[in-house]
Amino acid sequence: MCGIMGYVGPQQAAPILLDGLTRLEYRGYDSAGIAVAGGGIEIRKAEGKIERLAALIDSEPIAGNAGIGHTRWATHGPPSDRNAHPHADPTGDFVVVHNGIIENFYALREELQASGASFASDTDTEVLAHLVASEYDGDLVAAVRKAVARARGAYALVVMAKAEPGTIVAVRKISPLVVGLGDGENYLASDIPAVLHRTRDFLIVEDDELVVIDADGASIETISGDPVQREVFHVSWDAEQAEKAGFEHFMLKEIHEQPSVVSETIAGRLEDDRVVLEDAAFDDDFARGIGTLWITACGTAYHAGLVGAEVFRRTLRIPTRVEYAHEMRYGDPLVAPGDLAVAISQSGETADTLAAARLAGELGARVLALTNVVGSTLSRDADDIVYTRAGPEISVASTKAYLAMLIGQYLLALRLGRARGVLDEEVARRVTAGLRRLPEMVEEVLRSEKDVMAAAESMVDADDVYFIGRGLDYAVAMEGSLKLKEISYLHSEAMPAGELKHGTLALVTEGVPVIVVITQRDVYDKTLSAVQEVKARGARVIAVAYDTDAEIGKFADVVLRIPEGEDLLAPVTAVVPLQLLAYHVARLRGHDIDQPRNLAKSVTVE
Ligand code: F6R
Repeated sequence: MCGIMGYVGPQQAAPILLDGLTRLEYRGYDSAGIAVAGGGIEIRKAEGKIERLAALIDSEPIAGNAGIGHTRWATHGPPSDRNAHPHADPTGDFVVVHNGIIENFYALREELQASGASFASDTDTEVLAHLVASEYDGDLVAAVRKAVARARGAYALVVMAKAEPGTIVAVRKISPLVVGLGDGENYLASDIPAVLHRTRDFLIVEDDELVVIDADGASIETISGDPVQREVFHVSWDAEQAEKAGFEHFMLKEIHEQPSVVSETIAGRLEDDRVVLEDAAFDDDFARGIGTLWITACGTAYHAGLVGAEVFRRTLRIPTRVEYAHEMRYGDPLVAPGDLAVAISQSGETADTLAAARLAGELGARVLALTNVVGSTLSRDADDIVYTRAGPEISVASTKAYLAMLIGQYLLALRLGRARGVLDEEVARRVTAGLRRLPEMVEEVLRSEKDVMAAAESMVDADDVYFIGRGLDYAVAMEGSLKLKEISYLHSEAMPAGELKHGTLALVTEGVPVIVVITQRDVYDKTLSAVQEVKARGARVIAVAYDTDAEIGKFADVVLRIPEGEDLLAPVTAVVPLQLLAYHVARLRGHDIDQPRNLAKSVTVE
């Protein structure tokens, strides 16, 4: 998730691009750059926050009335000057910025290298500059069209050519792109807030559309060349609302981003019957020899690990341990050479997780980082990395990063399972197909937000809330409970459904909300018995269950439905109503949702 900008008009482009990028920094901030067309095309780019780019432009100004810019959240290649956008072809005559992922970039790069091309960065983006250049025959639109026909993935691409300096061409495939309409000047941006203080009139570019802007106007056509008439979208939001894409809080925006986050995490990694984890270097021999698979993390990342542990154990049939990092680091763990330690951290900077991962490495394990931040300390310490590609998460309460961590672990399970030759082909096929369906399934859950809002109203005045489930449902219950307590400040506990009668049942009295996650068919009847037990004590039962479950409605007061699918993948959809429930309870209680009291986004001290 990166921020992109374009400008054509009578003014100097550089300050406008810089200003727009500053307003887009919430989309990514590990490096930034601009390219401006004056006499030729010049590029300035720098690793780090936009101030560093601004300082560079101060010392080496660039003049010109058209330009493109980018603020990066790395997916391929660590943050660095050379990986910062814009990227150019070897002649420097074509420059591109890009948001999203080119899934087949390895293949394209190898093909271009075979015909003599050399690359100046590790990014997937650079291949697009090469492709546009090689397809150019005096018509930039035609060249861009031919170039994108060769690229697979979800992206927004913005291109400029030295030979056509007053024109910018852009294409949208899934990743967002808008045109800001000015008077004798026009803008391109990945998000409205970038230029909202300059214009309130926008054209929203849709999927598979190509747009051309110059100072006089903008025209949209389909990628195959059919003209498109798009009505002007007049924006009445203020700048803060626009940054949240019209949502009241970043948390809600991030919950709603999850379908596209799931797509991005999977993008390019499920190739027919192969799983490509581009930064995981272990080989099949190592995978076959793993003794114990350790997972270590804190908070929400630990809850993602609870799901992973169950998935790895079931699919790989190897001993799996999941440990809080702060417990593991002082717990004298029996990690041995040949073990794999998966350290999970959104930020990649949580002090305890870093320490536990280092300890596992010292004891001989191979360390794999599952993290959202390219170039984070955890990613630098690890032997292997799986990036979650969720984009910057601003809300302190983690949502989209959790979902991306689940997906990362499913991919890893498939990769290890194939290498170890233990994965039942039928299971692998079903999980692969199930993963591909998940973005649409998560979207479907989000469409039922109104049901969740009603459930939230019914429990807003509760003193205590209990979450129960078995197996994978228990792991999801743990995360649902954490979400609720951290932003609503309600006391809440999660436990395995079978554990209730060993104590906690004493606290279940008339009207106490009990939230049950009930998706796993192999333990369905057992969980249903627990529902009956709490119901008999007067609990108000809110269930998260498949839309095909005809039984649960007889016992639960409220059923939050999720689409039926593979039980192994159910955590991905089942957690979404619980994230929304936490959000709406906290909203009704009037809390500061994005910055809950006493909590920090990244815990870099012990
Ligand atoms: C809860 C939350 C925290 C983090 C935990 C670990 O919503 O965000 O529990 O999950 O502090 O952070 P990372 O994943 O950055 O290591």
